[in-house]
Amino acid sequence: MTERPATGWVALVGGGPGDPGLITVRGAELLRRADVVVVDRLAPRALLDELGPTVEIVDAGKSPHGHNLTQDAINLLLVERARGGRNVVRLKGGDPFVFGRGGEEALVCAAAGIRCEVVPGVTSAVGVPARAGIPVTHRGITQDVSIVSGHVDPSHPGSTTDWTALATGPGTIIVLMGVGTLPRIAAELVKRGRPASTPAAVVCSGGDDDQLTIVGELGTIAADAQAADVAPPAVVVIGEVVRLRGAVPRDRIADPADGP
Ligand SMILES: C[S@@+](CC[C@H](N)C(=O)[O-])C[C@H]1O[C@@H](n2cnc3c(N)ncnc32)[C@H](O)[C@@H]1O
Repeated sequence: MTERPATGWVALVGGGPGDPGLITVRGAELLRRADVVVVDRLAPRALLDELGPTVEIVDAGKSPHGHNLTQDAINLLLVERARGGRNVVRLKGGDPFVFGRGGEEALVCAAAGIRCEVVPGVTSAVGVPARAGIPVTHRGITQDVSIVSGHVDPSHPGSTTDWTALATGPGTIIVLMGVGTLPRIAAELVKRGRPASTPAAVVCSGGDDDQLTIVGELGTIAADAQAADVAPPAVVVIGEVVRLRGAVPRDRIADPADGP
């Protein structure tokens, strides 16, 4: 008689943005203990190089214009593998709960009675501007920051974001998934009251070797981004904090292996 394997666990791990060095200690530990890793497109792929040869790697993809696996298929996979006795890490870019559908996956695991741990990660909304030398808040400049999805632009009837409040407030606005909609978002913010001269930046491929930062003003940032052939993934930063970019250090300190 074959023994039924004990149920495994699922860990929703935030891998941080781009740079594999930004995963948390807890995230790295659970990754080392995983039998299965279900990985998103924007998770730091270099982390997969450290996995043992028996670890099953499932590429969940999720590019803006095509999905390798649907969300339902991912949910099913997590539950099935854990029910089969395997320990599963769901490796995501940034933080699992910031536009990462981590909440849905956690609920699915809970409903199926699967042990599930959520390991927060450095969200790109904060980490990518930081790596570009832009603090999202700064004493004396702004006390608030809003993180919004640019997936649905302000004119869309399905938009639940209060763009007028964002436009008329003084806070930093961080837009994720906003490369395609940047022209409409920028125009709408200006129309609703943000000065066109507000500093703005687009930081692409944050944490990667080819990280690129475009700096300009709200009124012209969309044209600047287009002229620079900006492509996703990118984080848009709108607000006076962008001015600090020239002053805040952004170089990485060399690793010991790189020599003095
Ligand atoms: C579906 S959201 C996931 C966000 C993720 N959960 C987080 O906390 O960073 C994907 C968006 O995050 C942003 N993003 C993620 N990684 C990035 C990176 N390395 N560089 C720039 N933007 C990034 C982009 O705006 C991208 O379109």
